[in-house]
Amino acid sequence: MEKKKEYKILFVCLGNICRSPSAEAVMKKLVQDAGLSDRIKVDSAGIIGYHEGEQADPRMRAHAARRGYKLDSISRPVRTEDFFDFDLIIGMDNRNIDDLKRKAPDLESVAKIHQMTEYSRNKLYDYVPDPYYSGAEGFELVLDLLEDACGGLLEEISLL
Ligand code: 4NP
Repeated sequence: MEKKKEYKILFVCLGNICRSPSAEAVMKKLVQDAGLSDRIKVDSAGIIGYHEGEQADPRMRAHAARRGYKLDSISRPVRTEDFFDFDLIIGMDNRNIDDLKRKAPDLESVAKIHQMTEYSRNKLYDYVPDPYYSGAEGFELVLDLLEDACGGLLEEISLL
């Protein structure tokens, strides 16, 4: 099979200020370290537009920074064009998946929707829990789950 020129991944959570911007940063670093930045493009968005225009949550940024990730994305809601523009649309929990399926404009778009933990190698959680009302351990758990699942995702894409 001919190699696809570019592969585009959109990570989605509720507010696009905690989990999906972290997934974006973790995946970008893995892609960069693998020398695949030209081939694999990564972005993130939220189900709700409540935090549109905001930087990622300062608690999430601080926890991520301790692991060497710089969260520089600005919150935006998912748009209809995203379903045509991206190859994979990855939600963090069941609610994100249900909301994405409701927003999907056609069946081809529905087929692009997957859950982050499908790519986990360490199958301890079947979703990435919302850390917004949690303490520090919630933010650390998000990063543990994302580092594991993004590694699995990169392996899977590399086979395409
Ligand atoms: P995220 O976390 O979906 O991981 O960005 C949340 C951010 C904001 C809210 C909930 C979750 N909120 O209710 O505003």
